[in-house]
Amino acid sequence: METVILDDPAALGRVAADAVVALLERRPDAVLGLATGSSPLPVYEELVRRHEAGKVSFARARAFTLDEYVGLPEDHPERYRTVIEREFTSRVDLRADALHSPDGTAEDIPAACAAYEDAILAAGGVDLQILGIGSDGHIAFNEPGSSLASRTRIKTLTRQTRSDNARFFDDDVDAVPTHCLTQGLATIMAARHLVLLATGRGKAEAVHHLVEGPVSAMWPATILQHHPHVTVLLDPAAAGRLQLAPYYRETWASKPDWQGI
Ligand code: GLP
Repeated sequence: METVILDDPAALGRVAADAVVALLERRPDAVLGLATGSSPLPVYEELVRRHEAGKVSFARARAFTLDEYVGLPEDHPERYRTVIEREFTSRVDLRADALHSPDGTAEDIPAACAAYEDAILAAGGVDLQILGIGSDGHIAFNEPGSSLASRTRIKTLTRQTRSDNARFFDDDVDAVPTHCLTQGLATIMAARHLVLLATGRGKAEAVHHLVEGPVSAMWPATILQHHPHVTVLLDPAAAGRLQLAPYYRETWASKPDWQGI
C-alpha cells in the first residue's frame, strides 16, 4: 500500500489523473472503475481539463461504477449513474454505451447483481478503480460487517451513511434510500490498481484504520491491505491520525519520477 500525503485535493486529483492518463496511453481500451462521492471530484475535474486540452481520450475506454441506490427513478438527479454522467463521463468522449452501472431499478435484484459481475468479467476486469471511503470505513457501499469475500449484492445503508449522504437530498435523511446495490469487497479487490482518495478531518479515523489498523470487516476498507497495488491519496487532515505520516511524506519526496503510482 502506498500512502501519499499532499497539500490539497487538486494535487491529489493530478496524481490520480496522471495514473489514468498513463494507463490509457498504454491501453486505450482500458476498463476504469468510477466512484461517486465528493472525494474523486478533483480527479474528474483534472481529467476533463486534460481531455479538453487534447491530452487524453476515453473514446475506446470502458467504465464501471461501484454502486447504486435501490429504487431511485431513472430521472432522479442523485441516482449514481446520473451523478457520474453529470460530473464526468458526459464531459469527456467516453461512449454512452461504454458506461456500466448496477441496475437499482431492477425487479430481480439478485439477477441484476449477477449480470453486473458477469459484465465486469466479460470486459476483462477493471484496470484502475477509483475509490472514496465513508467515515465508517466503507468502500463503495460495503458497510461495516460486510463479508470480506463479498460480490455485487444488495445492502442496507447504515444510518451514519444515510446521514452523511443527506446533503445530496436537501439535508433530509429520510429521503436517502435505505438500500443499495454495491460491488462487493472481493469484486473491488479483483481490480488491478486501486486508487483511494480521502480528504478532510471527517475521514481521519477511517483512514487510520485503512492504512495502519488490523484487517477487519468492522472497517471494510482495511481489506485493501491484502491488495498488491493500492495507492491511498490523502490531504493532511485525512492523514491526521497516521503514525507513520513522516515516513510516507519522505517516501513520496524521494520517489523516482519515472515510477508513477
Ligand atoms: C458514498 C459512496 C462511496 C463514497 C462515500 C464517501 O457512500 N457510495 O463510494 O466513497 O460515499 O463519499 P464522499 O467522498 O463524498 O465523502
